Order: sequence, then C-alpha cells, then structure tokens
Amino acid sequence: MESDRTYWADCAALEWQVELGVTDAIGDDPLDRYQLETKKPAPKPATAPTPPPTLMAEEVDPVAIARTMASKAGDLQTLASVMQAYEHCELKKGARSFVFCDGQPEARVMIVGEAPGRDEDRMGKPFVGRAGQLLDRMLEAINMGRAHDDPARAVYITNVLPWRPPSNRTPDKAEIAMLLPFLERHIALADSNLLILMGNTPCQALMGRTGITRMRGQWTEVLGKPTLPMFHPAYLLRNPIAKRKAWADLLDLNARLRG
Ligand code: URA
Repeated sequence: MESDRTYWADCAALEWQVELGVTDAIGDDPLDRYQLETKKPAPKPATAPTPPPTLMAEEVDPVAIARTMASKAGDLQTLASVMQAYEHCELKKGARSFVFCDGQPEARVMIVGEAPGRDEDRMGKPFVGRAGQLLDRMLEAINMGRAHDDPARAVYITNVLPWRPPSNRTPDKAEIAMLLPFLERHIALADSNLLILMGNTPCQALMGRTGITRMRGQWTEVLGKPTLPMFHPAYLLRNPIAKRKAWADLLDLNARLRG
C-alpha cells in the first residue's frame, strides 16, 4: 500500500513539473537550491603588470612583401626572377617546377588559368596536360594558338599560381591573395589587349567573385582590359555538353578581335 501511494504521488509530482515546462532531468540526486550558500567570488590573484609592448619577432605580411617585390619588376624576365625568390608561399616547397608562362608576350590575348597540374609541374609550362591540349584545339578552331606566328592571332598564357598545389587541389584564398600582386604585375607588363579568365580561380583572383556558369560569356573589365570569363578546359573535359557554350565564347572572342 505504502509503495502504491509513493508511486502515484511521484507521478503527480512529475506531471506537475512537466506542466511547468520541465523537459530534462539534470541530476540524479535532488538538490535544495534554497540551502545553497551564495558563493563569494574568489579574490583575484595578484597579476604581474602587463609588460610594455616590445618589438616581437617581426610580423610578416606575405601580401605586402609580394606587392613590394612585384613593383620592382620592370620586365617579364625580372618578374619571373622575383617570383622565384619569393619565399612565403608553402606551395613552392612541394612543387617541382616554377611555371611562369607560355606563348607570346606580345600577343593581343592573355589567358589566365588556375595553377599547374602534374604535367605542367613536370614540364615547367602552363597548360600542357589534357586540359592544355583541349585548350590548343579550341584556339586552333578560331585560327589562334600559343605558337602562332602572327601576334594578332597568338596568345600568351599564365596561371594565378606558378606552383602546383598538392594533389591539384583548388588554391585557397590566402594563396591567391599572396600571389595576386605578381599576377597583376604580369598582366601590366604583358600588356595584352584582352584577357581570358579560365574558370573560377582567376575570376576569384581578378574579379573577386566566382560563379563561372553565370559569368562565362559576359564581357567585363579587369585592370582596364576587356575580359571574358570562360569555362576551364578541364571542366569541359568532365562536362562535354558545356563545349557548345565554350564554342559560343570563342566565336565571340574571334568577332571582337576581328571587329
Ligand atoms: N590547368 C590550369 O589552370 N593551368 C594549367 O597550367 C594547367 C591546367
């Protein structure tokens, strides 16, 4: 009898708590919070006075250093040398080659890709792997090419990054930011008439945004130059259906060069 009474009394107490909004049991043992002493805050230990700011180990700003180094390059060869001397990008340690450019610096069109892949790292030249071979075929289709003897139909090619990221991963924002001053100087020194940005990474670097599916085929201006974002050839290899749109962009480029 006694245990029955306790059972129903406990149920009623529980029901009452649920009605009050209690949802969880937070401890196994009951605690009378009215009996708890209000604790005084522990006295603060005496702290040593804060030392005056000292000249700590010099803080390094890789972007500022890149900007200063890039500004000193008065020609493409010097730019390549100062970039090779830049020690703040970790990618350099894992890469076999420094990949700077290919094609003709006096070309009217400068193509900017993402970064060297395995083949480019091995050969020291941009766009020489499968994606690069597709790029060459795309250019040939509108009578252009990196080795074209007419500068009006030639192209000059570089990448946002001169060193291969491990496992061909997408470059991160910090890597892009620290190498951007060199890319900007590269574009200024090559001084082409038009820029083609292949895929999201050069769009992120030079336009500050991505979304190549929406941006491709839309002429814009970058560093004072008419600029056309296009699908990256590696994307076209994975999505052949997108080649139609790339073809439309090539025709548009051709028309602008002829017009
Ligand atoms: N993809 C790029 O973006 N650049 C290269 O050089 C090769 C592949």
